[in-house]
Formats: sequence, C-alpha cells, structure tokens
Amino acid sequence: MTRLVDLVLVLMMVSSILAQRPLCAVDCSRYGSAMGNLGDDPFDCHNYYVCTSNTTYVGDSVSCPSGEAFDTNSKKCMDPSFQGFSCTPPCERCTFDCVQSVMSKAALRMYGLEYYECDKHGNIVATIKCDPETYFDGQGCQADIHKTCSCRAPHCSHDDVRNSRLKPDYFNCTNFYHCNFEGLPDETCLDRCPSGEIFSRVDHKCDPKAKCSAPCAGYEWH
Ligand SMILES: *[C@@H]1O[C@H](CO)[C@@H](O)[C@H](O)[C@H]1NC(C)=O
Ligand SMILES: *[C@@H]1O[C@H](CO)[C@@H](O)[C@H](O)[C@H]1NC(C)=O
Repeated sequence: MTRLVDLVLVLMMVSSILAQRPLCAVDCSRYGSAMGNLGDDPFDCHNYYVCTSNTTYVGDSVSCPSGEAFDTNSKKCMDPSFQGFSCTPPCERCTFDCVQSVMSKAALRMYGLEYYECDKHGNIVATIKCDPETYFDGQGCQADIHKTCSCRAPHCSHDDVRNSRLKPDYFNCTNFYHCNFEGLPDETCLDRCPSGEIFSRVDHKCDPKAKCSAPCAGYEWH
C-alpha cells in the first residue's frame, strides 16, 4: 500500500485494453441528414453539441432551453415528458487509458488527482494536475470526491439507482456492481457474470464477446 509499491505496480502494468469504439463519444452520425446537425452529449441529455461533420463538433456543449432535454431519436430538444422521448444512454465516464479515452481525457490510475489529455491516436499529450481539493471525474476536476475516477468501486448516482444500472468492477472484468443504493457500492452489491462472460464497460452488461478490461487489476483497494 505504500507509494513505492504503487509506483512499481504502475511500471509493471501492461495495458491489455484495445478499444473497438470509445466509451463515451458525441454522436454526430446524423450530420448532414434531414434531422439537422446536432449531436448527443454523452454525459448529459440536457445538452447537445453542434456537429461540423459526422465525427467533429464545436468545442463546448450547449444547453437545451429550460424544461427541455435532448431527444436521442430525433436529435432535437423537447419536453422530456413527450411520449417517445429518449435520453442519451449513459456512458462510462471513467477510463484510465488514452487508448480508450473518454472525450480525449483519461484518469491516471489510483487517486484521481491527475488526468491525461489524449490525442486521437491514443497518445498522452499532457498530464494535468487537479487543483487542491478537486478530483477528476472523467470530464474535468470538480469538488465531489465521490465522483472521482480512481481505482475503487464506481459511484452510483440517484439516477443510476432509479434505473437499476450496473457498474464495472475496475479490478476484475468478470465482476460488476448493482446500484442498490446511492453512493459507493459495497460487497453486497457485487455480482459475477455467467461463466465465460465478461462485463462490457461499453454496454454495461455481461457479454460473451466483450474484451476483458480491468484497468485497476493489480492495484490494492483504496
Ligand atoms: C462520415 O462521412 C463520410 C463521408 O461523408 C463517410 O464516408 C463515412 O462513412 C461517415 N461515417 C459515419 C460513421 O457515418
Ligand atoms: C475475479 O473474480 C472472481 C470471483 O467473482 C474470481 O473467481 C476470479 O478469480 C477473479 N479474477 C481475477 C483475475 O482476479
């Protein structure tokens, strides 16, 4: 549990992750179609991005008008109580590797006090330190320690509990957590995929064809 052991483990760590598609991405696939040029914000369906091609978009997300949210089917802001409205499926915010970067960022393993800026090819462009008392949450540094991307159980939000979402075990790719309550899941929430299946961090379910991705394997629990 000492820093030295951590450092040795970091150096010994071999990445076995090779992504087929990103965990979180702005969906600009409808660019140029009759639906218009707006794309889903993978983190928050109250926002959208303005696409400039089917793979590129203008810097920051834009909020839908007050009381509206972005419908992933029609690619328009609308009243979310409308029948047929569908929120952007939630994506996995935390990744620990530029090869699988989330919106061009990846957490350093362990404590979530620093993160990488990544380029399109999976290379590290810069290492950014969070300001004191702030923690990397997959998008930026913020004050809520529970949302930190670090090597421990992923936080379950109120929304995760309401939708009975499953969360990955970063230590063991055959395991996953049920979001039984808000906060950090404990051992009572831990479950295991059927034999031969892997918990997919992209689809959030057990899948016989998923690649094993356990970015924290080899680390101590913190
Ligand atoms: C994006 O557009 C290009 C050219 O317009 C096309 O070749 C490509 O298949 C499109 N990609 C997707 C994911 O739709
Ligand atoms: C993952 O956890 C299961 C129990 O849920 C255990 O049998 C297996 O050995 C673990 N795998 C690794 C690589 O630790």
